[in-house]
Amino acid sequence: MKKLAMIVAAAKNEVIGVNGDLPWQISADLKRFKRLTMGHHIIMGRKTYDSIGRLLPGRTTVIITRQADFVCEGGLVANSIEEAIELCAKDDLPFITGGAEIYRLALPFVNEIHLTRVHTEVDGDTKLPEIDWDDWTLVEEQHFQQDEKNSFDYSFQTFARS
Ligand SMILES: NC(=O)c1ccc[n+]([C@@H]2O[C@H](COP(=O)([O-])OP(=O)(O)OC[C@H]3O[C@@H](n4cnc5c(N)ncnc54)[C@H](OP(=O)(O)O)[C@@H]3O)[C@@H](O)[C@H]2O)c1
Repeated sequence: MKKLAMIVAAAKNEVIGVNGDLPWQISADLKRFKRLTMGHHIIMGRKTYDSIGRLLPGRTTVIITRQADFVCEGGLVANSIEEAIELCAKDDLPFITGGAEIYRLALPFVNEIHLTRVHTEVDGDTKLPEIDWDDWTLVEEQHFQQDEKNSFDYSFQTFARS
């Protein structure tokens, strides 16, 4: 592994989820997620896996759970963030794909963050854990307006650890 990336979409108030789902319809974000993660390992918490409801094609899914007997046919299972990262050793750029519990565990190991900032404040029950942005340098940014496929204005931002 050369680098470990994290990919997340967050509202201005840091909300990332509601009722086990995403709080918005931003089709461009899903496309960006697919484009960036294709061919790589994606590491996610068991709740995020349940929320997606299936393995995403073209990627190797690593599910983190405390359940010793958890089985996922076609996917990999780890009982800690360290074990999950170890399972991706041969991938040059695995992605941490959430949710909040897994972002918090993974942050110390992450070298780059692909953030979709959704320019609204939404009600939700899951927030991005606190990130000390002084540790991160913005290396790329693109802004987009809402349209029929994207319910709010949003920005794609890429950060590298300073
Ligand atoms: N906006 C975004 O980009 C984005 C991305 C991903 C997810 N989400 C949203 O985030 C929400 C889900 O996030 P979440 O924080 O509730 O759950 P999560 O991080 O997806 O998964 C939590 C689960 O991970 C396992 N886990 C946590 N800590 C562990 C540890 N130390 N060792 C082993 N296993 C551990 C546990 O599974 P067990 O209970 O099986 O033990 C725990 O219940 C959903 O609303 C989802 O839609 C948003």
